[in-house]
Amino acid sequence: MNDFIYENQQLICERVPVARIAEEVGTPFYLYSYATLRNHFRVFTEAFARVPHIICFAVKANSNLAVLRTMIAEGGGVDIVSGGELFRALAVGVDPGKVVYSGVGKRVDEIEYALRTKILMFNVESWQELEVINLCAQNLGLKAGIALRVNPDVDPKTHPHISTGLKENKFGIDIERSLETYRRAKSLSHIDIKGVSCHIGSQVTRLSPFLEALDRLSRLVRQLKEEAFDIRYVDLGGGLGITYDSEAPPHPSEYAEAILTAARDLDCTFIFEPGRVIVGNAGILVTKVLYTKSTDNKNFIIVDAGMNDLVRPSLYNSFHAIRPVLEGSRKEIVADVVGPICESGDYLAKARKLASFERGDLMAVFSAGAYGFTMASNYNSRPRIPEIMVRDDRYYVIRQRETYADLISHEEIPSFLNNEKS
Ligand code: LLP
Repeated sequence: MNDFIYENQQLICERVPVARIAEEVGTPFYLYSYATLRNHFRVFTEAFARVPHIICFAVKANSNLAVLRTMIAEGGGVDIVSGGELFRALAVGVDPGKVVYSGVGKRVDEIEYALRTKILMFNVESWQELEVINLCAQNLGLKAGIALRVNPDVDPKTHPHISTGLKENKFGIDIERSLETYRRAKSLSHIDIKGVSCHIGSQVTRLSPFLEALDRLSRLVRQLKEEAFDIRYVDLGGGLGITYDSEAPPHPSEYAEAILTAARDLDCTFIFEPGRVIVGNAGILVTKVLYTKSTDNKNFIIVDAGMNDLVRPSLYNSFHAIRPVLEGSRKEIVADVVGPICESGDYLAKARKLASFERGDLMAVFSAGAYGFTMASNYNSRPRIPEIMVRDDRYYVIRQRETYADLISHEEIPSFLNNEKS
């Protein structure tokens, strides 16, 4: 369920017509519904209400401060993968005791920053990383809370670029070798072993890969407890998929039910790191048709948003539903929806059956709330687009449109070039 609906053939976000926002802020822009965001968070956390748990929103999915603030106000924590994400989360008042830090390439300065902040735990992905964290903690006179991120070698049956829990992926520590790594970790004086973690991939639309991973993880947790490790947290990562097209992923309540049944004997606090399932369908991209053109065998709709704004179709060939903001009566055509970037790979849809669009029409690209803005770039020197949040009958600009001056604000011409005579 989300709060983008058509009323009298006009797209409305909560109680605000999308066309009105477009008129006032210009296009393109990202648009989020506060109500959807909050409801998705609540549905997820309520599904786990009967066990101690922390929902650590995956900041990488959408790192806008207003979005993060919404999660934190609902009692959430965050899953971060960089110092920058930690900075954002702290800026909106996250409880450091609800921060987990994942990622295969944590730098020393990032580790120190997280240690000083006293985050809950690092999800550690290699022995070397663990040694570095131990050393950093020793230098700061602190103890680092950690979980080992184990790689359970489970196929999440999703796009290869976003599967992370297979042996061949760079992520985590091979589950077969993890017990031995936990034993070795005991010798590190500034490490507090708190838990076990895993994340198998993203946009997972079936329960079985999660359950398979959990089964392997549970076995490890039992072994660790037998050896008197004080395992207080089991972090099952994120990855629950959403409907972009016709996928039918399990509802968070089914996901929770299956996990809690399978994990009923694990006496610990569960951590989840959902991103997409919370924010994906809470956001759309609104763009305007610049031109249409047809060749002998193709129709093109050229819009003002490009792969620098939403890269998912170009990068993963992913599907985003597309509809006119003002529907009216339109005939159906088959077209490529393309952006202004100078690359053939710059498209939002390929050979898609769509309502026909005219120059000047507004287009809504759905399910763009996750990995939309966060993956945007300035390619082709295009200022990044604004983000807007609607709450009830008002909208708020939660990130301004970048200006041309922003584009060059970090650049400098060295003096030898200024002094050069032509
Ligand atoms: N935790 C960890 C350790 C992760 O690596 C990820 C996503 C998540 C949680 C959140 O996963 P989610 O619940 O959002 O599926 N850019 C790609 C997705 C990359 C996901 C990377 N890791 C896309 O646009 O589909």
